[in-house]
Amino acid sequence: MKPYRIAIAGLGTVGAGVIENLQSNAELIEARTGRAIEIVAICDRDQDSNRGVDLACYDWADDAGWLADIDGLDAIVELIGGSEGIAYDLAKAALGKGVSIVTANKALLAHHGFELAALAEKNGARVGYEAAVAGGIPIIKALREGLAGNEVGSIYGILNGTCNYILTAMRETGADFADILKEAQEKGYAEADPSFDVDGVDTAHKLCLLTSLAFGVQPDFKAIETKGIREITGADIKAAQEFGYRIKLLGVAKRQGGAIFQSVEPCLVPADSSLGGVEDSYNAVFAEGDFVEKVLMTGRGAGRKPTASAVVGDIIDLAKGLDTPMFGVTTDKLTKPVWADAGQIKSRYYIRAGGDAQITEEIGKAELEALTDKLDSPYIMRVEDL
Ligand code: HSE
Repeated sequence: MKPYRIAIAGLGTVGAGVIENLQSNAELIEARTGRAIEIVAICDRDQDSNRGVDLACYDWADDAGWLADIDGLDAIVELIGGSEGIAYDLAKAALGKGVSIVTANKALLAHHGFELAALAEKNGARVGYEAAVAGGIPIIKALREGLAGNEVGSIYGILNGTCNYILTAMRETGADFADILKEAQEKGYAEADPSFDVDGVDTAHKLCLLTSLAFGVQPDFKAIETKGIREITGADIKAAQEFGYRIKLLGVAKRQGGAIFQSVEPCLVPADSSLGGVEDSYNAVFAEGDFVEKVLMTGRGAGRKPTASAVVGDIIDLAKGLDTPMFGVTTDKLTKPVWADAGQIKSRYYIRAGGDAQITEEIGKAELEALTDKLDSPYIMRVEDL
């Protein structure tokens, strides 16, 4: 069988990892795919840096925009990033010509996933995005294929490694958010501009894709209420621990009657629960299906090798001809989501005000407001008793 021909756009940490994976495991990848994977072009603004892999054997394209025009190309691996600009233009150009894409770009797909999925369907192309959600954890494949016989009731995800690292380090050292963030930046875990991570935007991008896939609804990034971890103090971490909980930035999507409740916010989870034990920069997704019951997948959510593992898994699937719609069903079958009214949600809440912290019984939003109305600057987190 003729080789599967790909081009790679973006040779940062993940791009270099993809090439390393394809080179080091070429033999087993070819055996499992039934054909070779051939890199016919690579592209990056920086053609000089040493990335720890041999790039001498590949043709460089000076402009990512040219890649979609390569004759006989099967797929473009888009690792440029960003929801607009080059990545978006490249994805549209490729899919418009029937060339599949494999991407780690959650922002692009959270904003334009529906349009790109429709374009792919129209032109007989496919979109692989395993690397866009929870890095090396094969959660897209699990939800789309392994759990395809289930009606999913809920998904809880620890989807941002930087936040999980910060919250873990705050608990272990007793230090405040700002100090640990600085340390995380020095160690290279957090971005120089960490706002997408710590303000929950990155988690919301990923949750948006999981919600579509799990519940068969059109992606709707703007509908996600998002709160990050900047306001969490050392005192919150300590109080949560005394109550037997840990604080995690959770992306949650669950059925609520005929609607879907969806949120990204720091929550308390029992310290001895499966998600409570997911520490450092690890990610995890906990899902419940009507037949499978509870499933937990955990692993590295970022980094060169784990993310490359997800990208290469997608390339192999495409090369084998696996033809699953991007969100599990074709776009004409994706319904418009009905979001649950937050006022109807009942939960237990952690409330910190002044020097005191408490955990309430299960109450609704109105009771919560009545309880916190007269408190001075209360800080509130939902409790998820998983
Ligand atoms: N900044 C992200 C994280 C990288 O910390 O999880 C992977 O999306």
